[in-house]
Amino acid sequence: MQEYDLLVIGAGPGGYVAAIRAAQLGMRVACIEKEPRLGGTCLRVGCIPSKALLESSELYEEALKGFGKHGIQIDKMSLDLGAMQKRKDSVVGALTKGIEALLEKNKISSYQGVARFSGPARVTVESKQSPTELTARHILIATGSKVATLPGVTPDGHRIGTSTEALDYKKPPEHLVVIGAGVIGLELGSVWRRLGSKVTVLEYLDRILPGTDDEVAAEAFKIFKKQGLHFELSSRVTGATSKKKHARVEVEGREPIECDQVLLCTGRVPMTDGLGLEAAGIALDDRGRIPVAADFQTTVPGIYAVGDVIEGPMLAHKAEEEGVACVEKIATGYGHVDYRAIPSVAYTHPEIAAVGQTEKQLQESGTEYNKGLFHFRGNGRARALAQTEGFVKMLADRETDRLLGVHIIGPRAGDLIAEAAMAMAFHASSEDIARTCHAHPSLSEALKEAAMAVQGSAIHA
Ligand code: NAI
Repeated sequence: MQEYDLLVIGAGPGGYVAAIRAAQLGMRVACIEKEPRLGGTCLRVGCIPSKALLESSELYEEALKGFGKHGIQIDKMSLDLGAMQKRKDSVVGALTKGIEALLEKNKISSYQGVARFSGPARVTVESKQSPTELTARHILIATGSKVATLPGVTPDGHRIGTSTEALDYKKPPEHLVVIGAGVIGLELGSVWRRLGSKVTVLEYLDRILPGTDDEVAAEAFKIFKKQGLHFELSSRVTGATSKKKHARVEVEGREPIECDQVLLCTGRVPMTDGLGLEAAGIALDDRGRIPVAADFQTTVPGIYAVGDVIEGPMLAHKAEEEGVACVEKIATGYGHVDYRAIPSVAYTHPEIAAVGQTEKQLQESGTEYNKGLFHFRGNGRARALAQTEGFVKMLADRETDRLLGVHIIGPRAGDLIAEAAMAMAFHASSEDIARTCHAHPSLSEALKEAAMAVQGSAIHA
């Protein structure tokens, strides 16, 4: 039986990053992955392919509708969806190969197959060949998540599907019905709207983007509606059926909607199927997650878990941070994740990004705060880019001025949020940002101005 210092189950962002860091720290590491391609949901059928399509579809729409204002006229233009999909696949392919190479470079043994605990320190890898038995002093579960099901809506891979199928439509659906106005629904809904589909988004709540700051979500709603996404809020989907030529979506209290494609994106749940956690002695919590302590150790000594299978936001970079902290703690006795400073991004147009607490959370906890708001229309670079929608909102403690939250809707918000996350990690005040020299003209000046606005001293507002 092969013996390792660390066995990592799952080669997504949580698992493969932890495996590499552990190898750097001198451990003998093996990584087990059930899919033939490494990288997890994020790389194979999630973040990366969706971002590739978001970029391509944004360029397409810009060429179609936005070039005129720059004085560029295009007489004839057409969509080659096959080529667009091929580019997306090649982005994924290159990154997958990159991970293979990184595992090899770090001398990590890679096993392809389904991992199942056969005891607390033993794992069987079931594959097309004969099963392999592995053992290790430490085992890290990083098996990620899967699409949550909705009663009455069963994905059939044809007319009713999940984000996986929506990354691969062979032609833009005539009418795409998206169930759920969360991040996936808005990102993929935007892709297909830009490529010509009529898109209806059905959302149970009376708002979009649950968890996002209310003011940002309201601004996003206005912008996306103007772009042509059709929203039906306070609409609970109770079922969907697939017919030969169309699908029918049942919504509580109103007429069913007919369409040719349904995208189910009402959340994700931890993926622990077939892992044999009982054999290891691990029980799940009431939401199907693996309970862990601060060092990511489960109730069984020597078995750890990180990423989407444990509590917290289901984000690739959160899983990476946890994977690194977990193996550093094992190897050096110290490992830490700063959960106050985990950014989140929706890659819509404009992008939406946040770090820290929302205004509502601060109000609910009775925290006194000051607020600074700066609109991109007052930013020179945004004007030059012809992307002036949105704003930066900064929230700082009323007494200490320490940053409590930053919320951005606007051009390149996903990149701009890094400065705010860094500031939060260093326990900066809004004045620290306000007094930092930002290049001119740059979008980052909007952060500086929002920080100045906290004290009522923004220059261009
Ligand atoms: P979500 O939890 O963000 O949104 C699901 C939405 O569906 C909610 O607004 C909910 O109210 C609605 N809903 C639930 N039941 C419904 C019903 N019966 N009828 C109508 N609406 C209903 O889930 P989503 O978008 O599937 O994303 C899953 C996870 O993936 C999230 O944790 C998200 O953070 C992560 N993700 C992150 C991305 C990023 O960072 N850019 C991109 C894609 C996903």
